Amino acid sequence: MENETTSISPAEVRILKNGPILIKGVFNFRDSSGKITSGEQELYLCRCGGSASKPWCDGTHNKIGVPD
Ligand code: FES
Repeated sequence: MENETTSISPAEVRILKNGPILIKGVFNFRDSSGKITSGEQELYLCRCGGSASKPWCDGTHNKIGVPD
């Protein structure tokens, strides 16, 4: 049997300049309906308030800007 090494990257949260909030890494995410996604993922959350598919960023911030 081979010796396996498992590395788990911690989740990273970044506020992107003039853009969304990026959450990247291994984590659980529960949306407002209670649906949970788990594991390694990369999510972009809207922080401009203009996305038509909240909580996800749909690129609208490029038109309306992001308040800082
Ligand atoms: S931050 Fe991208 S649509 Fe709101």
